[in-house]
Amino acid sequence: MKSLVIIFGILLQFTAAVKNPIISGWNPDAAILRVGSNYFVATSSFVYFPGIPIYKSKDLANWELYSHALNTPEHVQLYGTPTGAGAWAPSLSFINGRYYLASMTRWTYDPFARVWPRVFFSSSEDLKTWTEPTWCEPWGIDPELFHDANTGKTYLNLMAPNNNEQRLWGIYQCEVSLTTGNCVGEYISLWNGTIPQNSSTRAEGPKMFFKDKYYYLLIAEGGTDELHRATIARSKSPKGPWTPAPNNPLIYNGAFGFKNLTVQSTGHATFVESAEGDWYASFLARRNINGSSPLGREAFLTTVKWENGWPIVNDGKPILLSENVGNTPEAKPRATSFTDTFRGKALDPSWYQLRIPYTNNYRLGNTGKDKKDLGIAGHQKPGGVTLYPNVFTLSDRDTPAALFRKQKSLNMTFSATLLPTDGSLGYRQSVGISAYLSEFQHQDVGIRGCVNQTGMCFYSNLIRNGTTTTKQIPLNSTTIPSGVTLQIRAEPLKYTLGYQIAGQKEVWMDEIESKWLAFGPAGTFVFEGANWALFGSGNGNPWPFNAPEVGFLEVKETYFEENIPDYDRWD
Ligand SMILES: *[C@@H]1O[C@H](CO)[C@@H](O)[C@H](O)[C@H]1NC(C)=O
Ligand SMILES: *[C@@H]1O[C@H](CO)[C@@H](O)[C@H](O)[C@H]1NC(C)=O
Ligand SMILES: *[C@@H]1O[C@H](CO)[C@@H](O)[C@H](O)[C@H]1NC(C)=O
Ligand SMILES: *[C@@H]1O[C@H](CO)[C@@H](O)[C@H](O)[C@H]1NC(C)=O
Ligand SMILES: *[C@@H]1O[C@H](CO)[C@@H](O)[C@H](O)[C@H]1NC(C)=O
Ligand SMILES: *[C@@H]1O[C@H](CO)[C@@H](O)[C@H](O)[C@H]1NC(C)=O
Ligand SMILES: *[C@@H]1O[C@H](CO)[C@@H](O)[C@H](O)[C@H]1NC(C)=O
Ligand SMILES: *[C@@H]1O[C@H](CO)[C@@H](O)[C@H](O)[C@H]1NC(C)=O
Repeated sequence: MKSLVIIFGILLQFTAAVKNPIISGWNPDAAILRVGSNYFVATSSFVYFPGIPIYKSKDLANWELYSHALNTPEHVQLYGTPTGAGAWAPSLSFINGRYYLASMTRWTYDPFARVWPRVFFSSSEDLKTWTEPTWCEPWGIDPELFHDANTGKTYLNLMAPNNNEQRLWGIYQCEVSLTTGNCVGEYISLWNGTIPQNSSTRAEGPKMFFKDKYYYLLIAEGGTDELHRATIARSKSPKGPWTPAPNNPLIYNGAFGFKNLTVQSTGHATFVESAEGDWYASFLARRNINGSSPLGREAFLTTVKWENGWPIVNDGKPILLSENVGNTPEAKPRATSFTDTFRGKALDPSWYQLRIPYTNNYRLGNTGKDKKDLGIAGHQKPGGVTLYPNVFTLSDRDTPAALFRKQKSLNMTFSATLLPTDGSLGYRQSVGISAYLSEFQHQDVGIRGCVNQTGMCFYSNLIRNGTTTTKQIPLNSTTIPSGVTLQIRAEPLKYTLGYQIAGQKEVWMDEIESKWLAFGPAGTFVFEGANWALFGSGNGNPWPFNAPEVGFLEVKETYFEENIPDYDRWD
């Protein structure tokens, strides 16, 4: 047995073990940090609360959701914030024994409002309890705190405009006070990247580090979509001047044709050195499915090697899903399911709300009027989650009574069993589940007071480019009975929506191509990916005081194999 272990150990040294994406489901701008034997990755959260998730790993291959940095309304203001704005592009630093998160909040895209993104940092001893934000002087995006161990100085690096008229974006810097957030050294332009500068080419996401005799400035360029890439420069000083690498761009799958490789929009990288002295890069990428990416931008990892003081990422090869990378333990097989019966003291941290939940939108448990039917006899605490529906719907730029989870697989089902009601839903009252991308794009199935007829109906609402297609089927019952499950089957190319009544065959009401859950309508910015939602709504009216309580007894996700090809060919 012992010899077997040793042989296995030797084999492991040659086993490339990181599977991409390392964190599936939308998690853009993955910024990695190692402290001791722990790795942490922080990602963007936009209009979701709590904000800025932090994932933890011991081995780079297996990641778990560890905490959120913006976990009270004082940490992040998102009232009325449109999809795609909100909290972005975090970076993590470890300075004098404290963790620092630098990030930004953007409240709107409206150019007439002249509201610009603001940068801040906060700090923590344990990554769980965070100080309130310290707001920095410059405006811009993608801030980073770089602590120069050679001098003890801390710099704020960020993407900022040259001025507020031309708005040519580049990487800017000042030495910063960790107490006030103010600049304590001159504010300078560091580098404008490698692409000829105009108002849409963007040098962003600065990540600075010192290795051997050079300071390195790693950035993202080319905008958010197909031209996205990672480039680097080095200097003898953290203030420059900067010499670009001879092998830029370091990461750029678009170089192989935008329609060829599945993995696209590669960039926004952060480097990390393992305790063993191996280097890796975290970065973002999309998994394109016939040209669109319903899961949005996910967190990826690859190797970094050094030659003549310059990094070579992934051996200079394109990023492929089929290739595992690195020299780490094997990734554990992925879970095949997730079940939530809502019996914990609090919601599982993988659930989110939209914007700032300024009203209480749910409670754990249910009235348990029908305990026998709910199948919870013998349990200490009734399970389930009861929603407090309000006037808002998933189409509003507000906080509907809705709970969200990231869609983590391109091949899975999401199902939710409704709590039985003691009465009927009336005109405008609805309860359901959704495949949700934004206030413009969500595909719903649920139960509502029927439209144009009396009684309650199952209904589906599909949104294609602003046009809604609705179907309804009478429920033939004056209450929602026990054992009604709503379900959505997600496949790479489509979502299928339906329901199942206990003991009966499942009914699929409608289906929609997954491309309708990717990218926003013209003129909007949607930087997130697909979520699953549970919702209840008064659809513009308050939920009547005497209307039945609605909610869900149990949520279940089942994950199937994801055989996503390296080349984006689906015909
Ligand atoms: C970057 O571009 C801005 C605007 O054109 C310019 O003012 C600045 O000097 C440039 N910075 C560097 C380091 O070249
Ligand atoms: C900026 O430059 C990029 C590439 O160099 C080009 O594709 C784009 O059209 C330019 N945008 C503007 C606003 O000039
Ligand atoms: C990728 O696509 C481009 C055009 O879209 C084509 O010219 C090129 O040959 C393709 N490359 C590969 C490796 O398939
Ligand atoms: C309800 O009736 C209106 C008017 O006839 C019609 O336009 C609409 O499509 C109907 N809605 C449903 C869900 O049947
Ligand atoms: C969606 O609608 C917009 C505006 O009407 C149009 O320009 C665009 O081509 C449409 N997109 C698709 C995929 O149909
Ligand atoms: C309710 O009855 C109608 C008419 O028989 C039928 O078409 C429909 O499928 C029934 N609804 C359910 C949920 O079984
Ligand atoms: C999705 O899962 C189903 C059921 O296991 C399987 O038949 C199918 O090949 C999978 N699709 C992909 C793209 O992996
Ligand atoms: C892929 O996308 C193209 C262009 O939108 C479309 O014509 C084709 O039907 C799609 N293929 C599949 C398998 O969905």
